[in-house]
Order: sequence, then structure tokens, then C-alpha cells
Amino acid sequence: MCGIVGYLGGRQAAPILLEGLQKLEYRGYDSAGIAVIRGNTIETLKKSGKLAQLRAQMNGYMPESTIGIGHTRWATHGRPNDLNAHPHIDCQGRFAVIHNGIIENYLTLREWLISQGHVFRSETDTEVLPHLIEEFYMGDMVETIQRVIRKVDGSYAMVALALDEPNRLVAARHDSPLVVGLGEGENFLASDIPALLKHTRQTYILEDGEIAVLTRNDVEVCDRSGQRVDKKVFHVKWEAAQAEKGGYDHFMLKEIHEQPRALKDTLSGRIAPDGSRVVLNEINIPQEQLQQINKVVITACGTAFHAGLVGKYVIETLARIPVEADIASELRYRNPLIDKNTLVIVISQSGETADTLAALREARRKGARVIAVTNVVDSSVARDADDVLYTWAGPEIAVASTKAYITQLLSMYLLGLYLAQSRGTLEDKEITQIITDLRKLPDKVASILENGTNIKEFVQKHCNCEHAFFIGRGLDYAVAMEGSLKLKEISYIHAEAYAAGELKHGTLALIVKDVPVVALVTQQALYDKTVSNIKEVKAREATVLAVASRGLEEVAKVADEVLYIPRTHQMLTTILAVVPMQLLAYYMAVSRKCDVDQPRNLAKSVTVE
Ligand code: F6R
Repeated sequence: MCGIVGYLGGRQAAPILLEGLQKLEYRGYDSAGIAVIRGNTIETLKKSGKLAQLRAQMNGYMPESTIGIGHTRWATHGRPNDLNAHPHIDCQGRFAVIHNGIIENYLTLREWLISQGHVFRSETDTEVLPHLIEEFYMGDMVETIQRVIRKVDGSYAMVALALDEPNRLVAARHDSPLVVGLGEGENFLASDIPALLKHTRQTYILEDGEIAVLTRNDVEVCDRSGQRVDKKVFHVKWEAAQAEKGGYDHFMLKEIHEQPRALKDTLSGRIAPDGSRVVLNEINIPQEQLQQINKVVITACGTAFHAGLVGKYVIETLARIPVEADIASELRYRNPLIDKNTLVIVISQSGETADTLAALREARRKGARVIAVTNVVDSSVARDADDVLYTWAGPEIAVASTKAYITQLLSMYLLGLYLAQSRGTLEDKEITQIITDLRKLPDKVASILENGTNIKEFVQKHCNCEHAFFIGRGLDYAVAMEGSLKLKEISYIHAEAYAAGELKHGTLALIVKDVPVVALVTQQALYDKTVSNIKEVKAREATVLAVASRGLEEVAKVADEVLYIPRTHQMLTTILAVVPMQLLAYYMAVSRKCDVDQPRNLAKSVTVE
């Protein structure tokens, strides 16, 4: 999730690029940079940190040029530092590239390019792009980009600048957004509309596989094979604040809709090409140490802890190792039984949560091997852990975590499979089956989001309620806990999650007429048991909204309403079932006129105890 801008026309490019980047800082703020063609050189200015740091370094200097590209980075491959900041250039400084996305096969390409004599300066995946361009360039940038995109796997929105072609910008997209802004005697490129709004509302939204060629007075779009594509102009009606949210009313809703992309990115490069194994190159635990692990401890706070609860279930089931999941603020003070044979997994979106960091340090002090699962490259937990598995959700702005959580869930499955593979606890065909189903999840999440649900109707009926309950068994219980937290934190409705079988041990006393109960029913093996619990609450006249997997339609006979999620491997349902939970909380909060993105009393990153 980086921000991209490009400009060519009759005005000075540098101020336009910097202004555009300012509007895109919500997409990433690890580093910023611009490149322009100035005389017979490409001048690149870049700096780690926020855009303000780049401006401070430039100290008012604006290189003279009417063509340029700019980038604000959210680090994925390579730490946030000056060298890893974009734009990246080739060996001779004839090409500059900015990129948003992940080049999955960059290590192979990098090795090949090095063998061809290319010298790399950064740790990024992006840097292979200018070197590939340099390798293939025969005098035409469009042909060169076509060749480059045939070589790369993964996601990209990229814009390239060539010294030999100072009157055009060439851009390509696959799985990362890119928009052309149409001006008069000038044209623009941006990853998002906010960067364009000051200059134009006439745009082309590029589709996957399209290449855009911009000159001052013209924009041509073609497909991968060079066939011209007739683009329809999209007139942007959004106001600036709405445009930042991609046209959604809130960042939270935007982030919920970004989940298919976040899942794809987090999976990217982590499955062997034949789909037979998980490949986690970033985890370097020696085989001998892996064999000696006799316990896994997962620790985190809040939503991240709920991902940990799923992790406990998944790792125990797949890798047959005992797993404890504990809240970080508890673990750090309870002198836990952790030693050198314990594998500790800490989960933290921000990577800065004080309790999680303290728990991590305590675990390391006791000799454990620690894997951090985090969304922020070079965050404190990433730096302090032995190994890091990054979630590639991109910056999360809404306080309520959604896309980061779903990628944390995915990471639990990846780690479960990784441990199972190294310990030989699963048959090859079981691994392949789970991986096949994992890969289908992004599209299934998209289908839940596209098809809409009758959640809004349910919300209409219950938005004035004061209490709500979430029930489920097994993995459904973990998702129920997340559903309950989402609802309370943004809609201020008192919500509680219960293991469905536990209701009758006390909480049933609170179930009275019309109290909303959300029942998760995705586990075939526990189906009858959960249905019995639904009957228990129905007998007390509660209103039941069931979230059930397709194939478990019988639940409609006992629940008042049912939202169906697509079928998948029984262990993977969490990733689908949480989406209706998020939407329920979101629409409840909207209908109660709550501040969805910044709920009262809460902060995005809790860096104090
Ligand atoms: C709730 C939420 C919080 C965080 C928790 C941990 O929606 O986002 O519960 O999950 O504060 O934060 P991180 O993951 O940054 O350590």
C-alpha cells in the first residue's frame, strides 16, 4: 500500500508531485521520494520518514522539470530507510520507477539480473523493475514494459520514467490501483483519486493488465499484448474527504472492502508454485530447533489476541503441538512456563503495543524463539523478534482493526501449515487441499462483500438494543469474540461472546425477549450442538441472527435470519465468518451515529501500559 503520483505537462512537476503525495500519505508514510527528468539526467530526491522529512531535506529546492514521478512508501520488502525509498533507478540512472504492490518472484529475478551484471542498491522487490527495463530497453518504453510485465509475478501499479523518452510516462497495473487524471495540455497518474482532485475530475480507472502511455496532450491505454483499449472517462463526483476513503463513507468500510486484496498480498510468495507447500523464507528456525519445540505460546492484545485464539486451534490441529494463547498484559506478569523449547508467536498490527512488546521481551529473556506477526515493517516487535512474518494489509487507519485481523488469521494458517510440514504431522494431500482452499478465500471474501447481505435489515430492527450476545463453538467461538469486540468498540452496545455450550452456566439468565443473539454456525462437526444452543435462546424469545456456512441451511428452521458464507475447508471458515461480523458492527455504529473511525476513548496504537 504505497502512494503513487505522476505528472507531465507545462507546469513544474516537483511541487505538483509533492502536493499529490501529501494527499496520499494515508497510504504509507515510511519514506517519500520524487524523480524528474532534468536536462540530461534523472534527478532523484528521496528520504525515509514522512513527506515532511523529504521537504525538509529539499529545503525549498525544486528541481526544474515538467515531467516526474513521486512515491510515498509503506514498507513491505526492505526496511524503511533512504535506500529503500522509491523511486528506484537502474545502474546507469536512465530509468526511474515507482511501484505499489509486491513482486513475488523478485528474488529469482534479482539473482538473474545480478548474473547479468546489474548492481542493486536496495533490499526492495521494486528495484528489479528498473533493472529489468534497463536489460530489455531497445528504444521503446511501451514494448519494454510489456516485456517486463511478462517476467514479473505478483501485484503492481508502476510508473516508469525514461531519460531517452522525456515526453512520456508509461504505467502498468495488475492487482494494485492506478488512475489516470486527464488535464488540458497535461496529464496525471495516481494510485488514488485524492492526489488528482485539485487538478482534474476526469479520469481513466485502469484495469488489470492495462498499460497507460501519457504524453502532454494524449493518453493511450492498451492491454498486455498492445491492443488499444477504449477507455470511458470516469467523472469523479466525490469531495476530497470522501475520495481519501476511496468513495466509502468511512475508512473502516474501505478497509473491510480491501480485505480480498490484503489476503492476496499476504499469501503472495508464500505458497510453492505447485501449491503443495507453504514457503516461509522469512522464518529461519533451524530444523533441529523446530523438532525440539514442545510448546507454542501465542500472545497479543485485543483483536490480535482473537487471531491468536484461532492460531491455537489451527496449530494444535495441524502441527499437533500444545498451544497456549494468552493476553499479553497477563502473560508478562505471570512468570509463564517458557523456555528454550517454547516457540512464542506475538501478533500485533502496529508492532508497537506496549504489553505485546513486553511479553515478547519476557519470552526472549526466558530463552524462547519468538516469531512476530506484524503489519509494520521494522516496528518494535519486528526488531525484537527472532523471525518476522509480515502481514501485508497495508496501513490501517480506522481504529477498529479489520483487514489487519483477517491477514493475522491467514498468518495463523500459514504458520500452522509451516509447522505441520516441518514436523511431518500432515499428509501431502491434506496440505495441498488446505492450500487450494486458502487460495480461494480472497475471492470468497469478495463475493460476501459484493453480494451484500441482509445485515442492514437486521441492524434497522436492532440498532436501539442495549445488549447483544455472540455464540459459537470451536473456531466459531473465537470469531464470536471478535464479532463482539467489534460491535462494542464502535457502536457502544454492550456485547458479550460465549462459547455456546457455556450459556446455560449463567449467561442464559440475561437472555430475554428480543435480545439479539448472533450465532456462528460454520463447523459441521459441532452443528447439532450449536443448533441446540440456538434453541435454548429461542426458547427465551431472543432474536437470532445465524451466520452459517452454505450446506448448513437447516439452521434457517431455528434462527430468525441467516447470513450464509461460501463453503470452504472447515478450518478456514474464520476468514469468511468474520466479514459479516465486521459489517454488522459497522452498520450498527453508523445507524447509531457513532464516530466509526475514531471511537471514543480508544487509540489505534496503544504504546503505554
Ligand atoms: C480492536 C483493535 C485492538 C487491537 C489491539 C492490539 O479493533 O484493533 O483491539 O487489536 O489494541 O493492537 P496491535 O495489533 O497494534 O498490537
